Amino acid sequence: MGQRVHLVAAALLLAILITANWFSGDLRDLIGYCPRIGYLLQTVNGVGRGPSVAGDNHDNRPLAANLSACHASLTDADRPTYCCPPRRDADQIVVEFQLPEIAPSPLRVRRPAHLLDSDYVAKYEKAVAIMKSLPSDHPHSFLRQANNHCLYCTGSYNQVNSTSLFKIHRSWFFFPWHRAFLYFHERILGKLIGDDTFALPYWSWDNPEGMVMPEFYTRGAFNSTQREPGHLPPHVADLNYQREETGRKPEEQMAVNLAFMYHQMVSGARKAELFMGCKLTAGAEGGCDGPGTIEDAPHNTVHEWVGNGLNPEREYMGAFYTAARDPAFYAHHANIDRLWTVWRKIMDSAAPDFTESSWLDTSFTFYDENLRFVRIKVRDCLDPAKLGYAYENIDLPWLNARPKPAVPPEVARNILKKKDEWSTLLASGNPDGQTTYFNNEEQALGATVRARVQRPRRHGAQAEKGEEEEILVVYGIHVLGDVYAKFDVFVNLVADEKKAGPLAREFAGTFVNTPRGARRVGEDRLSAAWRKSTLKLGISELLEDLKADRDENVWVSLVPRAGSGANIMVDGIRIELLR
Ligand code: C2O
Repeated sequence: MGQRVHLVAAALLLAILITANWFSGDLRDLIGYCPRIGYLLQTVNGVGRGPSVAGDNHDNRPLAANLSACHASLTDADRPTYCCPPRRDADQIVVEFQLPEIAPSPLRVRRPAHLLDSDYVAKYEKAVAIMKSLPSDHPHSFLRQANNHCLYCTGSYNQVNSTSLFKIHRSWFFFPWHRAFLYFHERILGKLIGDDTFALPYWSWDNPEGMVMPEFYTRGAFNSTQREPGHLPPHVADLNYQREETGRKPEEQMAVNLAFMYHQMVSGARKAELFMGCKLTAGAEGGCDGPGTIEDAPHNTVHEWVGNGLNPEREYMGAFYTAARDPAFYAHHANIDRLWTVWRKIMDSAAPDFTESSWLDTSFTFYDENLRFVRIKVRDCLDPAKLGYAYENIDLPWLNARPKPAVPPEVARNILKKKDEWSTLLASGNPDGQTTYFNNEEQALGATVRARVQRPRRHGAQAEKGEEEEILVVYGIHVLGDVYAKFDVFVNLVADEKKAGPLAREFAGTFVNTPRGARRVGEDRLSAAWRKSTLKLGISELLEDLKADRDENVWVSLVPRAGSGANIMVDGIRIELLR
């Protein structure tokens, strides 16, 4: 409780006073806006620019875990947990990773789980059963495998030469860490059954044929009692799940899922940072919190969707410290890993990989199939072919699911233009051309917040567009008490925001906070690893489709979901160009 008070106090101290042009009072009532819990948002050029996101003072050393001190950590909802190995990793002999010899052993081909034949399922089940039967101090045991994930998600290790925790979610380490984890896990399973062609299946929830959890996960060694009963087969997964049942028919849910996938894979992910996540670097100053599009959702949302809603953190799948105890975790992550390869192909050279050594040379440790303790670097994880596996291709129907505007752009523009006139009127009389409504009121996203946001000017050749992506940045997002929270972001939305979603072109993205742990065990203050979040959304294509790419301003709505808005505070919104 005291912690919560600290959080509120810290937030109030940190909050930057931002002035805003706003709707007239009447209109405010009309849209159900409540100033006491409303939040300040920037609407005027140059005002309220928050601290720039990750990367001002950071240190460029690659990260690694300090293996000499594995410590108790906190689950996402602040409950102590302990997932350290029984023998100190620091006492093991570390072997540098070597790429596997591919020929003569064939490529391991990862197939869609729903297409596996019964022999394959039986083989995989045997491997899982053996893994589950190993004593829990064995590095190949199912529990130790799952705990690998816990170590790096709850911050059981500090970063080397630092008191900051080493956590791999919500940043550019998300994809490579999970790729390495699955790589070793898959080879261990193969070894346990003497099959060096064994490959993990993937749960293709991005394709209508795979949107139901593959049936076999409800049986035998694959089953888990800790799942939401209402989401088991034949229920279609809600990729943008917000802890509420939508009541959609299967076909409707599939259409929403495809439009959402289009957004997260294509129009919202046209730069590496947008897709991969923010550039987390060493030490507290390098701390950033900004997952890429896919990590934010469907990754987080499918975790939530599978986990049992009766458990405090929707364990197993809903909480990272237990997620990998559910065998379905590995199929979920194989699909995430596959989507990384798909994105690479779609973007081709338009979104080059990161080249920073602080990414490429960051390392993680795992036990391999021969019980060697291996250090693998991000640079080793970039090419599945070199790692000896590939994905069987399936159709990508979301490539053709580009959403349409909910309201014709010409109509929307007229409505929005009136709002612009009102806010201009409001601004006059103030020397700075701004009006302040909220001062130091408690500032939360209790209801939908709308703001007019100025677009940056492009100069000269830039005006011809090209390489730069226009990005909408919602910065300084602070979830009080670090609980579950979600809000959706829309541009130029005039339709009912309660009903609007990914099927509307106005949908610019979503923010999902699966709680991420705000402090260390035994510490009564915010941990150095805790940071306000930044949400970056690519909107260039969206602006073209909404015919807003020549406008000076756009209207942005932040729509809290599932009643979580009272816990969300936001410092502001701005639009930038990203190279
Ligand atoms: Cu490391 Cu799906 O989480």
